[in-house]
Amino acid sequence: MSEGADDDGGAGAAARSRGGSPRGDGFAPSALGTREHWDAVYERELQTFQEYGDTGEIWFGEESMTRLIRWMQKHKIPLDASVLDIGTGNGVFLVELAKFGFSDITGIDYSPSAIQLSGNIIEKEGLSNIKLKVEDFLNPSTKLSGFHICIDKGTFDAISLNPDNAIEKRKQYVKSLSRVLKVKGFFLITSCNWTKEELLNEFSEGFELFEELRTPRFSFGGRSGNSVAALVFQKTELTTLVRFLEEPHPAGEQPMGSCFC
Ligand SMILES: C[S@@+](CC[C@H](N)C(=O)[O-])C[C@H]1O[C@@H](n2cnc3c(N)ncnc32)[C@H](O)[C@@H]1O
Repeated sequence: MSEGADDDGGAGAAARSRGGSPRGDGFAPSALGTREHWDAVYERELQTFQEYGDTGEIWFGEESMTRLIRWMQKHKIPLDASVLDIGTGNGVFLVELAKFGFSDITGIDYSPSAIQLSGNIIEKEGLSNIKLKVEDFLNPSTKLSGFHICIDKGTFDAISLNPDNAIEKRKQYVKSLSRVLKVKGFFLITSCNWTKEELLNEFSEGFELFEELRTPRFSFGGRSGNSVAALVFQKTELTTLVRFLEEPHPAGEQPMGSCFC
């Protein structure tokens, strides 16, 4: 989907279908929230890549990747920082990160076809040190942990549209995020379904807003706004402490939590 474009038929279409949701969260459930949908999408894109070398759709366009990399550059994120792309899709953002010089990059997706497509694209680019895993972020393996940076471009949007208890799935997403991200680590989210205020509410527990990234504005019928929200959150110490207090642990054990410094 191109930024600001309104002809994608993807998550943008879902954003426009707000209202009338029986669930009370403003979204009508959609196939876009299901694994079957994404499997079908990436099976098709995999075939297209094999036949024509076309890498397929970059959600929110090239500019969304530049925006994130520029932010990382501005804040002097070390090139050896561990970066996780949650729901990497075709993995094109991983390629951009590697070309920029990042050396510890992981992409996960619950669609095996997406991971296969990412692998093929990465191989064609001649890049070898990118880690790829088929993982459901709502039930991540224990190995997925300790990241300095987590990126989400359109994945939280997709999860929010799941026809089967999306509210619970969103809560699970926040839990998974606080599990895989280091204390003081950064979470960069780009969304076309949620406004800044709504995202602040979704990620209020254990995360604080670090920066809002500028995105293109639209004007229509006398109203103006942003078609896409791009926010950077930082994980607070509190999440680790709360989790520690909630979990059973041997007497005398102290919370540790390594810092991102
Ligand atoms: C809108 S696409 C975005 C793809 C990519 N991030 C981009 O910017 O081009 C959403 C992606 O999230 C993946 N996804 C959705 N739910 C997921 C989950 N629970 N765990 C892992 N990946 C998921 C889908 O398979 C799809 O690749």
